Amino acid sequence: MTHPIDETAPRWDAPRAEPGWAVRAADPPTLVDIAPDGPPSHGGAPATHPATTAGAGPKHRRSARPGTGTGELAALDARGISAWFGERKVLDRVSLTMRAGQVTALIGPSGCGKSTFLRILNRMHELVSGASLAGEVLLDGQDIYDSSRRVTDARRQIGMVFQKPNPFPAMSIYDNVISGLRLTGVKASRRDLDDLVEECLAKAGLWKEVRDRLRQPGGALSGGQQQRLCIARSLAVRPRVLLMDEPCSALDPTSTRRIEETIGELVAEVTIVIVTHNMQQAARVSDECAFFLASQGTPGAIVEYGPTSAMFDNPQDSRTYDYVHGRFG
Ligand SMILES: Nc1ncnc2c1ncn2[C@@H]1O[C@H](COP(=O)(O)OP(=O)(O)OP(=O)(O)O)[C@@H](O)[C@H]1O
Ligand SMILES: [Mg+2]
Repeated sequence: MTHPIDETAPRWDAPRAEPGWAVRAADPPTLVDIAPDGPPSHGGAPATHPATTAGAGPKHRRSARPGTGTGELAALDARGISAWFGERKVLDRVSLTMRAGQVTALIGPSGCGKSTFLRILNRMHELVSGASLAGEVLLDGQDIYDSSRRVTDARRQIGMVFQKPNPFPAMSIYDNVISGLRLTGVKASRRDLDDLVEECLAKAGLWKEVRDRLRQPGGALSGGQQQRLCIARSLAVRPRVLLMDEPCSALDPTSTRRIEETIGELVAEVTIVIVTHNMQQAARVSDECAFFLASQGTPGAIVEYGPTSAMFDNPQDSRTYDYVHGRFG
């Protein structure tokens, strides 16, 4: 059985003898090794990572309900992100502000580094052996790669929905929604859990369809319903940012439209970053748009970024115009 949470959990079996995961403090890099299960062990203070008082995390307003988020809208600010797989550089100094309470769409041809960038935003890039990066990712001004931050906190605050819906197929719909809470050891009363399940399924636009069959397995739902179940599962740990990597590419037009409606409703309380190859979708759901390009073997970079309407109607770069009008990619 595929274990969906495995994709976001620290990989304990990562080969340790190899150089493995590293944050590159500068380009050309100074390597700083990171233990796969926790904060980086600094070989020296990386210039790009400002010192933070130990234990001084983001301002938390703990919810009285189960879940671990703060309920406050958060911006995500990527600064000077470069990324490598081994010695191959695939992103070059990408900076992008993903504004609080907005939908930012990442567009661009296949292989330009959109998914890599997205995975860097919640520390999943480091799950790949030999992968490394330079730069900072600030969540409300705090670098998620700072040595005082736990990787599990970053992944809980910055959730991810994948291209292929990946619920626990044999687990009930109800238990799927709260599975993230169980894994993080959050304790809650049955009544609170019931409320949370209803709240998250409602936010994901699935409650009305499944309210009478919460004990049925998640795998019995349609693809579009499974994707909304995965969104509900992500919401249950109260993330501040939701990353979505082509969440509709495996879905039919009706399910796609339903997910797009869900995105429109969620963005009032969760900042959303979505990768999509569907230009109509980018135009429909996003407030701002970033166009990535990796031309002729060079690492991916952002060609242009701005309000979605301007990117589609009046882009500054001719390559943006050509791409959004389907002339390449
Ligand atoms: N695990 C990996 N190991 C080595 N190289 C990788 C790995 N993942 C991605 N790459 C390479 O990094 C580059 C960027 O890939 P990425 O998946 O980020 O592109 P993308 O823009 O998401 O493409 P697509 O639109 O096809 O999903 C590509 O050249 C790809 O081959
Ligand atoms: Mg991709």
